[in-house]
Amino acid sequence: MKRNKWLILVTLPSLILSLLLFIIFINVQVLKPPSPPNPRNSSKSTMYPNQTQFSLMIGILTRADNYDRRHFLRLVYGIQSSPLATIHVKFVFCSLTKPEQRALIALEILRFEDILILNCTENMNSGKTYTYFSSLPHILTRKYDYVMKADDDVFIRLEPLASSLKALPRVDLYYGFVIPCASMNPFVEYMSGMGFLLSWDVVEWIGSSEIPRENVFGPEDKLVGKWLKMGNKAKNRFSNKPAIYDYPGTNGKCSHELIPETVAVHRLKRWDQWLHVLEFFNVTKGLKL
Ligand SMILES: *[C@@H]1O[C@H](CO)[C@@H](O)[C@H](O)[C@H]1NC(C)=O
Ligand SMILES: *[C@@H]1O[C@H](CO)[C@@H](O)[C@H](O)[C@H]1NC(C)=O
Ligand SMILES: *[C@@H]1O[C@H](CO)[C@@H](O)[C@H](O)[C@H]1NC(C)=O
Repeated sequence: MKRNKWLILVTLPSLILSLLLFIIFINVQVLKPPSPPNPRNSSKSTMYPNQTQFSLMIGILTRADNYDRRHFLRLVYGIQSSPLATIHVKFVFCSLTKPEQRALIALEILRFEDILILNCTENMNSGKTYTYFSSLPHILTRKYDYVMKADDDVFIRLEPLASSLKALPRVDLYYGFVIPCASMNPFVEYMSGMGFLLSWDVVEWIGSSEIPRENVFGPEDKLVGKWLKMGNKAKNRFSNKPAIYDYPGTNGKCSHELIPETVAVHRLKRWDQWLHVLEFFNVTKGLKL
C-alpha cells in the first residue's frame, strides 16, 4: 500500500510534465504556418528543376515608379508555380529618368533579378510593346518557349495558365483573349493587351522583320494583330474564353463573374477588387490570420 502511494508520488509529476510537453508540442505543430518558399528563390518553379515541359517568361509592363505594385505582384507570383512549366515573371519598363530610380531599382535588381529596362521613353501608343518584344532576343540570357506581355493590373493564375498551354503548339502561337469582347474567333483582329502570349519564334520574327519596325505607332495591342496578319504569322491561335476576362462589371461584355477555371482577371484597380480575387481563388487560405 505504502509502496504504491510512493510510486504514484514519483510518477504523477513526470506524467503531468510529459502530458504538458505533449500538448505544447501539438500546439506548436498546429500553429506553425506552412513553411514559406525559399525567399532567395521567389519563383517556386525551381522546385521542379529540368522536369518541366516548357518555359514561359511573363513580362509585366509597368513604370519604374510603381514600386508598391511590384512589391505586391512579387508576393502574388512568388507563391505560385506549376509543375508543367518553368515560369519567370519580370517587370518591364522604359529607361530610368530620375536620380533616385538609379539607386532604388538597382537595389531591386540586386535582390530579385526580375527587371528588364528597355531603351525607350514611357509612352502609351508609340512603341513600347514593339521595343519589348524586339529587344528580348538581345537582352535575355536564355530563350523561352513562350513570352507573355501582361498589364500590372491583371491577376494571372500560373497553374491554370500552364495547363491551358500544355497541349498547344510550341511554335507560331498567339494566345490570349481575342478582341472584340464577344468574338470567339482568334483569327480575326487581335488579342487584348491585358495578357497575351507569343511563341519564341514569333518574338524573334518581331525583332527581325521590317513589318513591325515600320508599323510602330498606334494602339499597341491592335498593332501586334496587324503585324501577324501582314506577315502571315501565328497560324496557331487560341483565345482562352471564358478563362481570361475583365473584372466583373468593369468592361461590358469583356467582363463576367469570377469563375473557378480562371487563367487571368484584368482591371484590378482597387484593393477591394484584389481582395475579392485573392479570396475567391483561396490564395491565402493556407494561413488564417
Ligand atoms: C534557387 O534554387 C535553385 C535550385 O534549387 C538554385 O540552383 C539557385 O542557386 C537558387 N537561387 C538563389 C538565388 O538562391
Ligand atoms: C537607344 O535608342 C536610341 C534612339 O532610338 C538610340 O539612338 C540609342 O543608340 C539606343 N541606345 C542603346 C544603348 O541601344
Ligand atoms: C476555395 O475553397 C473552397 C472551400 O474549400 C472551395 O469550395 C472552392 O471551390 C475553392 N475555390 C476555388 C476557386 O478553388
